[in-house]
Amino acid sequence: MTSAPRTGKRLLDTALGHRQSTPPIWIMRQAGRYLPEYRQVREQAGGFLNLCYTPSLASEVTLQPLHRFDLDAAILFSDILVIPDALGQSVRFEQGEGPVLDPLDPADIAKLDPSRVIENLSPVLETVERVRAALDPSKTLIGFCGAPWTVATYMLGGRGSPDQAAARLFALAHPEAFAALIDVLVDASAEYLVAQFRAGADLVQIFESWALNLDETAFRAYVIDPNRRIVEKVRQALPDAPITGFPRGAAGMLAEYAEKTGVSVLGLDYATPLSFAARALPKTLAVQGNLDPLRLVSGGAQMEKRAREIIAGFADRPHIFNLGHGIVPQTPIENVARLVDIVHGR
Ligand code: CP3
Repeated sequence: MTSAPRTGKRLLDTALGHRQSTPPIWIMRQAGRYLPEYRQVREQAGGFLNLCYTPSLASEVTLQPLHRFDLDAAILFSDILVIPDALGQSVRFEQGEGPVLDPLDPADIAKLDPSRVIENLSPVLETVERVRAALDPSKTLIGFCGAPWTVATYMLGGRGSPDQAAARLFALAHPEAFAALIDVLVDASAEYLVAQFRAGADLVQIFESWALNLDETAFRAYVIDPNRRIVEKVRQALPDAPITGFPRGAAGMLAEYAEKTGVSVLGLDYATPLSFAARALPKTLAVQGNLDPLRLVSGGAQMEKRAREIIAGFADRPHIFNLGHGIVPQTPIENVARLVDIVHGR
């Protein structure tokens, strides 16, 4: 995508293939509980999903980290689990527990209602519009969705789990119902991402947070193929749409994921060696990542040293600096400010 004209947004330009002298930066889960102002609005919203579905509050929370730090992008404040909610599955966020869903059985899958997803998610799209209107034009607005497999692990397992065993077993025991669920999620996600672009997103990310724990056959079927279909469907509507894929834990399957899905940017988790990009990825492919979030908690010299290694390791290609997974609630705010300065060459 190096032929795309520059837009004047450093982060979007990098995603389009234009390397910058210092990498742009955003931080995965940058609006969240490590910020006292987030905790205050969340309290006021009365429930996490209410916050996601109240555009005035969700847009405020989206912009909070940009008021504190010189980040190059805002990421829409929402969650990957608004899709199951919009399909009619009950989703609850319980304090300190994470998301809880009533797990689907095979017969429930035919009852999911894809016809009203975009209508049900119209408050989220209004948040995108509000953020777009308020955001400095030099900043990139990132939209997102969860990838079908990752979202399915919650829909089938009912909650997060270390090995996604419930979903993996469901896929093996009920292949047709599983394929039908993935099809529903591919269609809903692609439609939702197109709607986010139309509402003002510059770039979108597909979060495949549970790409680990799959053998190569399952990885191709559950991860690569559905991600590829989403990319294709979005680009049928919007031919040059820039899309980031983040297949966390893809390890030996990363290069194949990048090649077969056609993503514009490959998000790297923190276990991915810097030498991997040089060895296995085309020079024109933009990468994003990949500092260990706990290095940001601990801060100081080790954080600075590793951040500089990452910047040097990806200096020969378009690189968006980020963590290799989400920021954690105990992160000291001053460490975030320091990291942004380091990445901006200060
Ligand atoms: O600032 C941002 O990054 C935008 C908002 C955002 C949230 N979730 C808000 C959120 C984004 C991009 C996500 C993505 C998301 N949600 C993922 C993929 C990224 C990743 O971390 O792997 C996943 C797997 C989810 C599902 C989810 N939502 C879980 C597992 C949890 C509980 C764990 C946790 O961090 O609390 C959530 C809740 C959630 N989503 C919170 C936030 C700010 C915390 C809710 C709270 O305020 O109590």
